[in-house]
Amino acid sequence: MSASETIFVTGGAGFIGSAVVRRLVAETACQVVNIDKLTYAGCLDNLLPVAQHPRHHFIQADICDQPAMRRLFQEHRPRAVLHLAAESHVDRSIDGPAAFIQTNVVGTATLLETAREYWRQLPEGEQQSFRFLHVSTDEVFGSLGPEGHFTEETPYRPNSPYSASKAASDHLVRAWHHTYGLPVLITNCSNNYGPYQFPEKLIPLMIVNALAGRPLPIYGRGVNVRDWLYVEDHVTALLTVLERGQPGETYNIGGHNEKTNLEVVTLVCAILDELQPAANGRPYDRLITFVADRPGHDLRYAIDASKIARELGWRPQESFASGLRKTVQWYLDNRWWWEKLLQERYSGQRLGVLASNAGGLP
Ligand code: NAD
Ligand code: TYD
Repeated sequence: MSASETIFVTGGAGFIGSAVVRRLVAETACQVVNIDKLTYAGCLDNLLPVAQHPRHHFIQADICDQPAMRRLFQEHRPRAVLHLAAESHVDRSIDGPAAFIQTNVVGTATLLETAREYWRQLPEGEQQSFRFLHVSTDEVFGSLGPEGHFTEETPYRPNSPYSASKAASDHLVRAWHHTYGLPVLITNCSNNYGPYQFPEKLIPLMIVNALAGRPLPIYGRGVNVRDWLYVEDHVTALLTVLERGQPGETYNIGGHNEKTNLEVVTLVCAILDELQPAANGRPYDRLITFVADRPGHDLRYAIDASKIARELGWRPQESFASGLRKTVQWYLDNRWWWEKLLQERYSGQRLGVLASNAGGLP
């Protein structure tokens, strides 16, 4: 990406978006326009490493706000949009689906329409090089049994309000390509982990609970399987797809790291036992507590990432053992980051148990 190019990153104050922004600033010469509403999940501290950088431009805005989006496209004239802004937590989508439909569906439609208006009036060469990369999830494919993997041909069968809203957005993106010719790319990635992940998600929640000596809640019997990918590997995949992906195509991204939740939490405990033994000398896995299952809990996700490997040459670099160790070490070294979030935004309580319908659909 050259110095004359501007890249929009939506959701760039979140977990994955901020990793994209930090990478773009560090390793390319492009201007980065970071568009984020700063919901509970958006955190300017994630951007401290690039806060003063002259090529990073942070703009607080809602992707559902079409006039604001129009102004940004006209002012900054992007070569590409990396669309990550979303409500991202399954348990919160059970408690309150409305925000998921608003941001993930309406927001994506708004951004697509604004991008199309802008793209239509570009000179031909710029029209051809424009890209809209929609960052999505493997959860749109639904749940696997003990065998098999999701491929790009797997039919969509989303089960949670979160995955249904992401599936809807994927379909909109596809339609904007098919109907209007907008040069889009879609990626469907497995569960990410790494630094700066909001402590509502499994791995950071287990780290911060363990350090506080609190129970480590495992839904059901801990047999659900996720396919874990280190966030920096995801960023590399996204930039690879942006540069070399074929418009109109979708690419599955995954880490070949299938683990049951119990395996993941046990490993987190073992790493903590080594890096930060509990004051009372007892192992952290004593805190593991089986709790009521998540409603509609998908059993297993696993990605077949052979298309992106074959066509674009991307493969994950980080093993789960090394990535998890780095992640635990990061949370130990950056207590200030998550202690502030726990104090101000989310204190670790169970979400998504159907206890209330606050924030639900009208
Ligand atoms: P996150 O919740 O950490 O960050 C989301 C960001 O989007 C936040 O900074 C938030 O402020 C911003 N945002 C929310 N609503 C907005 C709106 N209306 N306008 C502008 N900004 C808004 O999420 P994440 O884990 O970094 O996920 C980023 C993207 O990647 C999402 O689209 C998600 O569906 C997708 N994804 C995530 C994973 C994962 O494991 N976390 C896996 C695959 C795909
Ligand atoms: P999560 O990080 O919420 O990601 P997703 O639901 O998008 O896969 O959860 C990962 C897995 O961990 C999922 O199977 C639910 C489970 N889980 C627990 O067992 N306990 C918890 O406290 C949380 C947050 C998740």
